[in-house]
Amino acid sequence: MTTAYETLRAQLPTAPHTWLVTGCAGFIGCNLLEALLKLDQRVVGLDNFATGHRHNLEQIRALVTPAQWARFTFHEGDIRKLEDCRRACEGVEYVLHQAALGSVPRSLEDPINTNSANITGFLHMLVAARDAKVARFVFAASSSTYGDHPDLPKLEDRIGNPLSPYAVTKLVNEQYAQVFARAYGFRTIGLRYFNIFGAHQDPNGAYAAVVPKWTAAMVQGEPVYINGDGETSRDFCYIANCVQANLLAATAQDPEATNQIYNVAVGDRTTLNDLYEAIRAALAPRFPHLAGARPVYRDFRAGDVRHSLADVSKARARLGYAPTHRIREGLVEAMDWYVNDLTRVR
Ligand SMILES: NC(=O)c1ccc[n+]([C@@H]2O[C@H](COP(=O)([O-])OP(=O)(O)OC[C@H]3O[C@@H](n4cnc5c(N)ncnc54)[C@H](O)[C@@H]3O)[C@@H](O)[C@H]2O)c1
Repeated sequence: MTTAYETLRAQLPTAPHTWLVTGCAGFIGCNLLEALLKLDQRVVGLDNFATGHRHNLEQIRALVTPAQWARFTFHEGDIRKLEDCRRACEGVEYVLHQAALGSVPRSLEDPINTNSANITGFLHMLVAARDAKVARFVFAASSSTYGDHPDLPKLEDRIGNPLSPYAVTKLVNEQYAQVFARAYGFRTIGLRYFNIFGAHQDPNGAYAAVVPKWTAAMVQGEPVYINGDGETSRDFCYIANCVQANLLAATAQDPEATNQIYNVAVGDRTTLNDLYEAIRAALAPRFPHLAGARPVYRDFRAGDVRHSLADVSKARARLGYAPTHRIREGLVEAMDWYVNDLTRVR
């Protein structure tokens, strides 16, 4: 049976639209850019390189044809400046708003800058997109919004108290989006991402996500640290599923589908111990030093939730979301990319 995403992918090249991807030099943003350009769409990008990289844009350029790359317009700019947001929104139909300062620990160390990018910047983007009369505003929400709510799996309408400044910012994003729907009739969709991983995710820096950080450490023969006993679990979601959710959300026709929040995950629970073993096993054939490798356990990290697992039935039912990759399939693709990237001479 043909999925909603397959149908959409067949339709889009026949009727190109103009998309704005904020945070297009970052991990998720540059994957969205690649997918959209490969579907012959026109893409506007906005990024200030706070955590994103020019080399991500260069890598995407190498993956598309010159004609596809010519449909990309990049604005170096900052969502904390309303004028930069307005300039980027001109003539845009669909906004995929990814720009933000991610990471729970960063927000605990630097709540002020997290707040200005993630709340002030978000509000600027909402106002600019509303005034530019874009058709749909899809934004990166977060599973951190579930906070201390004990239920598993996580259902969109049952949330607890936020456990970090980052989680506060992502909750406020959802609330602003709701208010813009009620007050101005503006159409938004928030996608609560659960631990997305894949190509172009930065392995460097204090706030790197677990999959790229561990992969880089293993390839480079460095110790891998597990915070806590390793039985902390997450619903790791491969980037292809996240891209699918964004494109379906932007183009969903059903009025019931808009002004909603959706989990974006797979619905699989993986402990950190399982993740360690899956990455180690995927890399071991190419890196014999990993044959008997073991992680180093250290203290739990402040602000982290113990377990996270999504129920994705709402996205399945209303958006036609059908994840194509479970964690192991995603890791196989991601490991190929990481091994190439980490061993490439820049
Ligand atoms: N990666 C995940 O697992 C995950 C999970 C939940 C939510 N999210 C959210 O998804 C979005 C994308 O995350 P990512 O993992 O790609 O992170 P990333 O850091 O790779 O990308 C974020 C991008 O936003 C840009 N940016 C930051 N502040 C900006 C500003 N003031 N003006 C313009 N650009 C700015 C950065 O330079 C970067 O390119 C974020 O909103 C993040 O909070 C990600």
